[in-house]
Amino acid sequence: MTRMSYRVGFIQNRPDFGDVESNRARVAAMLEELEADLFVLPELFTTGYQFRTADEARQMAEPIPGTTAEFLTALAKRKNAFIVAGLAELEGGTVYNSSVITGPGGLIGRYRKIHLFDTEKNIFQPGGEPPPVFQLGAARVGVMICFDWRFPETARSLALNGAEVIAHPSNLVLPHCPQSMITRCLENRVFAVTADRVGTENRVEDETLHFIGQSQVVDPDGNVLVRASETDEEARVVEIDLEKARRKSINPVNDLFTDRRPDLYSTG
Ligand code: ACM
Repeated sequence: MTRMSYRVGFIQNRPDFGDVESNRARVAAMLEELEADLFVLPELFTTGYQFRTADEARQMAEPIPGTTAEFLTALAKRKNAFIVAGLAELEGGTVYNSSVITGPGGLIGRYRKIHLFDTEKNIFQPGGEPPPVFQLGAARVGVMICFDWRFPETARSLALNGAEVIAHPSNLVLPHCPQSMITRCLENRVFAVTADRVGTENRVEDETLHFIGQSQVVDPDGNVLVRASETDEEARVVEIDLEKARRKSINPVNDLFTDRRPDLYSTG
């Protein structure tokens, strides 16, 4: 079986809440020395996470295309790489927790998080479109955002729609996601790149949030190829073999996709 080499990277940052320009510049500096086909940046990487009110989020959110999307496209051109990055998106007065997908040839798409976590429900509108899959160079890349991991249907539908790599911008506060993504990868035979952040935000009384880091790349056999620390900013790139995600058989007789029995799964 010939290899299909593809390099994936993540940035794990520590944004200062609201300091959009310096948060963008910091990420660009962290990318400077690295080369990859695909870079994944955290959820809400420009603003930070803990908005006090929906109005505050509306004031900081940006359209797509907009300033940050243009910044990311310029960075993608400079690095000759694709970039998936999270930001607060404004469209017609409505704010979404979104990801931008861009590349050397320009803006490619956008995904609006469909499963909002906890107080995000007071701040954002949930997306109304399915998680998308894009051809990004050699790889078919599906996009989901943070808490989408808790709903296995998200990764499953991306994989059934052809995703070989899941790009997963995140701001994790619960401890379970890094381990759970191993299962998401095993059950779908996909790679996943989770880009998380570190640091603490306490902008809301009695709601101190600790972000758990541990950004990682997991392969279709459930191996953690690289995992970042819980505390430090980090940028990492690993080379993956896309062929591994194209084979859904797990032994000579079982195939994860063709053995499925959707005729017997009752869904609500
Ligand atoms: C999360 O979805 N940011 C926890």
